Amino acid sequence: MIQDARVLQPQFIPNEIEHRNQEVNALSNTLKPIMDGQPGETSLLLGPSGAGKTCLANYTVERLRENILDINMQYVNCWQEYTRFQVLYRILEGIGNTVDIHRRSTPKDELLDRLQGYDGPQFVAILDEVDQLEDKSILYDLYRMPNITMILISNREEDVFSQLDDRLTSRLQTCVRIPFEKYHLEELVAILSARVQCGLSEGTIGNEQLSLIADAAAGDARVAIGILRNAARRAGQSGIDHITTDIVHEAVPDGRHEVRQKTIDQLNPHQRVLYEILDEQGKLDPGELYEAYQERVDEPKTNRTVRNHLKKMEHYRLVIAEGKNRARTYRPR
Ligand SMILES: Nc1ncnc2c1ncn2[C@@H]1O[C@H](COP(=O)(O)OP(=O)(O)O)[C@@H](O)[C@H]1O
Ligand SMILES: [Mg+2]
Repeated sequence: MIQDARVLQPQFIPNEIEHRNQEVNALSNTLKPIMDGQPGETSLLLGPSGAGKTCLANYTVERLRENILDINMQYVNCWQEYTRFQVLYRILEGIGNTVDIHRRSTPKDELLDRLQGYDGPQFVAILDEVDQLEDKSILYDLYRMPNITMILISNREEDVFSQLDDRLTSRLQTCVRIPFEKYHLEELVAILSARVQCGLSEGTIGNEQLSLIADAAAGDARVAIGILRNAARRAGQSGIDHITTDIVHEAVPDGRHEVRQKTIDQLNPHQRVLYEILDEQGKLDPGELYEAYQERVDEPKTNRTVRNHLKKMEHYRLVIAEGKNRARTYRPR
C-alpha cells in the first residue's frame, strides 16, 4: 500500500505546493533582487503551526536555486539552535567555512569575523521559529551583512519583536510580512490527495476518508499528514489494501499523539521543565508555576523569558492559558 513513505514524513518538501500561490509569490518577490546579484528583502512569515510556513520557505528557496547557479542557503531551526554560537555555526556551515571550528573552544566573535569576511555569492538564511532565539542581537549582525538575505519565521509578530532593542526593531519594522492562515478543509484535502498520489497505491483511500482526516486536523497540515501516515501504517499492518473509515477513526488519536510527541521532543530544557510541572500538577497560576520552575532548575530564566516559553507551548498546543492578568492560569492540554 505504501509506495513511497518519504512523502508522508513531516520534513518532506513536495514538488508542488497546494494553494498558497499568493504567499509563494510574495516570498519570491522579496528574493527577486538575488537574480541580479543583489540581496533580497528581509521577510517575516507569520502564522499558526501547520500552516505551511517552513515548507513554503524551503520550497521557494529551492525554486530559486534551480534558476541561479551561484547562491548559498542555510536553514536554521532556532528552537533547536537558539544560542548565538549555534546560529553562527550553522550559517557558516552553509558557506562551508566551519572546517577548523571547535564547538567548545572557538570564541564566538571569531565566528562573526569569519562571516563578516564572507564575500561569496548571495546567501539566503531561513531562520525558523526565530522567536526562540536566546539572544536576538544575532539578527542585527546578520542584517548588516552585505550578501545575506533573511527569511524569518514565527507564529506571531509580537513574539519576534519582544525583547528587541530599538535599532533592531527599526530595522525589522520594514521587513515584508507574509501572513499564513490555518487551512480550510478543502485545502487540507488537496494537500493530502497530492501526498496520496505520490506515496500510496491507487485507490488506497477515498475522498470521504480524506475529508474525515482533514476535519479532524482542524486546519493543521502537520496533523493531517500525521493522521494519514498512521492510517496507512494501520491498514498495512492489518493486511488491508485500503484505508477504511474505521481505520481513520482509530488513526486520529494516534496521529495527534505523534505530532504532540514530536513537539515535546523539541522543547528546550526550560520548556521541558515547565511542561513536566504542569503535567504533574495540572492548573497553576503564573506565580506558582514560576516558583516550582525555579526550584527545579539551576539557572532559572527570568519571569519574562518563562512567559515567552509558555507562549510557544501555547502556539504548539501543549499548554492552555486562560484568563487575563491576575486571573491567568496555565494547564496542560
Ligand atoms: N501548501 C502545502 N502544500 C503541500 N504540503 C504542505 C502545504 N502546507 C503544508 N504542507 C505540509 O504540511 C506539513 C506542515 O507544514 P509546515 O510547513 O511544517 O507548517 P508550519 O511550518 O507552518 O508549522 C509539512 O509536512 C508540509 O510539507
Ligand atoms: Mg514550521
